[in-house]
Amino acid sequence: MCGIVGYVGDRSAQEVVIEGLRRMEYRGYDSAGIALVRAAEGTLAVDKRAGKLSNLEKSISEDPLPASTTGIGHTRWATHGAPNDVNAHPHLGAVRRVAVVHNGIIENFADLRARLEADDHLLLSETDTEVTAHLLELQVESGVDLTTAMQRVCQRLEGAFTLVAVDAQDPDRVVAARRNSPLVVGLGEGENFLGSDVAAFIEHTREALELGQDQVVTITRDGVSVTGFDGVPAEGRRYHVDWDLSAAEKDGHDWFMRKEIFEQPHAVADSLLGRRSRTGSLQLDEMRLSDQELRDIDKIIIIAAGTSFYAGLVAKYAIEHWCRIPVEVELSSEFRYRDPILDYSTLVVAISQSGETADTLQAIRHARTQRSKVLAICNTNGSTIPRESDAVIYTHAGPEIGVASTKGYTTQLVACYLLALYLAQVKGTRFGDEIDQIMGQLEQIPAAIESILARADEVYALAHEFAASTSFIFLGRHAGYPTALEGALKLKELAYLHAEGFAAGELKHGPIALIDDGLPVFCIVPPQGRDQLHDKMLSGIQEVRARGARTICLAEEGDARITPYADRLVRLPRVPVLLQPLVSVVPLQLFACELATALGHDVDQPRNLAKSVTVE
Ligand code: F6R
Repeated sequence: MCGIVGYVGDRSAQEVVIEGLRRMEYRGYDSAGIALVRAAEGTLAVDKRAGKLSNLEKSISEDPLPASTTGIGHTRWATHGAPNDVNAHPHLGAVRRVAVVHNGIIENFADLRARLEADDHLLLSETDTEVTAHLLELQVESGVDLTTAMQRVCQRLEGAFTLVAVDAQDPDRVVAARRNSPLVVGLGEGENFLGSDVAAFIEHTREALELGQDQVVTITRDGVSVTGFDGVPAEGRRYHVDWDLSAAEKDGHDWFMRKEIFEQPHAVADSLLGRRSRTGSLQLDEMRLSDQELRDIDKIIIIAAGTSFYAGLVAKYAIEHWCRIPVEVELSSEFRYRDPILDYSTLVVAISQSGETADTLQAIRHARTQRSKVLAICNTNGSTIPRESDAVIYTHAGPEIGVASTKGYTTQLVACYLLALYLAQVKGTRFGDEIDQIMGQLEQIPAAIESILARADEVYALAHEFAASTSFIFLGRHAGYPTALEGALKLKELAYLHAEGFAAGELKHGPIALIDDGLPVFCIVPPQGRDQLHDKMLSGIQEVRARGARTICLAEEGDARITPYADRLVRLPRVPVLLQPLVSVVPLQLFACELATALGHDVDQPRNLAKSVTVE
């Protein structure tokens, strides 16, 4: 997501900060900014621009910043507020004494903002960040140092955040804080650095300090000190970075895709943040459709392409079950050519990670001409699809760089569940009462994904074992069926192998003819609670096994009935059937990534594919 740099030392802070931002460009961003401390005058110099870093550099070259050896910088991936100059970071306090850059989401910013505004603070941006600049400045103006100010302010913040701040009147200090959001310290000689990741400072030092949760770090030229938010001294873990720059950008992984697979616990958690109000009810910030408009909906059509389409298929199971509203799921490239039946009581949900897919964009334009309301589920703030929609649910996966979607998909699933639950709440269905319980189950998913990632080596071993196979089948039932399709798509696009996903019940209507001796068949086994589903899946597995297939079963912990029929077994954490797609897809992503690597393919840039398909 956002990239953050902080520096204090003897060099030009401008050069160190801009270079650090450049090295974090791979994270994706839509605006960039810098704040330098003018030590002699006790003031700040700030410049920030929407768009690429080159826009900021051009602006600085036209209107140079003063020489300074203390500064902070930021590349922003918009979450709250459009990507423009005003919303770009750094943000300043009311008297321009404190500047702050931020990564993450401050969940209670609306409350904090309302209180500041009631005290006549003028906030200029739409961001959740600006409140922190005002709050920190109030503290330093009251006489405490920036470190104490940061400790106190962090205790008032909810959500996930990395904050980095400077105080114009304390020129040799940069202070940062982190909660559930990345921040590393670079340890130099007579200089120190802060970065969202080591890429920010790797050309200057390879000595780094890892911080724990809820910690505040203060860097000066000569030292680094760490405390908890409560002010109690703490210690970071020192380590040596032995990656080269390109590995550093990928956080030590060989591919962005692999890094993004491993980011899923965080991405899912971030996409769930801030969705519950104080009273426990669900809130969706950018819903923009009134409860009455939602109550009037009698049909939902989901349109999307590729992996996003499979997220839509999962959404159908959840929405129909929890909300009792009929849902159709349609490929966006097919939608408008079949003269779909639409009117004001149809809600069209467009799912798009990039927000720019031409087929999906044309489909929503068509829907709007038919007076249907359009809701976008999107990962890219300010992109065309959410801009042209009536409402939006943003996913918070951060930029997805690998062409094959991974964290984009799982966070889309989260958004689909949120939409389903929100509709159940508004419509008052019998599942309305269970929202709290289901949200609780969703909040357990990051840990569940983590537990699969911890066993990634088991899946990698399978990928090597099956590296000589040229054809794969994926079987699933119910919400496991879209997972089968997604598993097959990942393998096709990355490993260039024949891979097909089927609903297990369809096997005997044709596809079973494909089963041959030794053919690897992935079987996504539903949780045991749904007995009929589980039994039916077991029958399907036995049928393919009887015809010589080698079964690779993905089944939940404790499912002993599957063991005799699984040639290979990957255990999944126990989650309810409707949420299982969030965990069952992870081994399939790992498998495809590892197999493609073993075959020598470029995993991040598979042949013939583009990340954002902007032509129909
Ligand atoms: C597959 C993949 C594509 C996209 C599809 C839609 O890994 O990434 O199938 O899912 O092109 O893209 P968005 O979601 O950006 O509309």
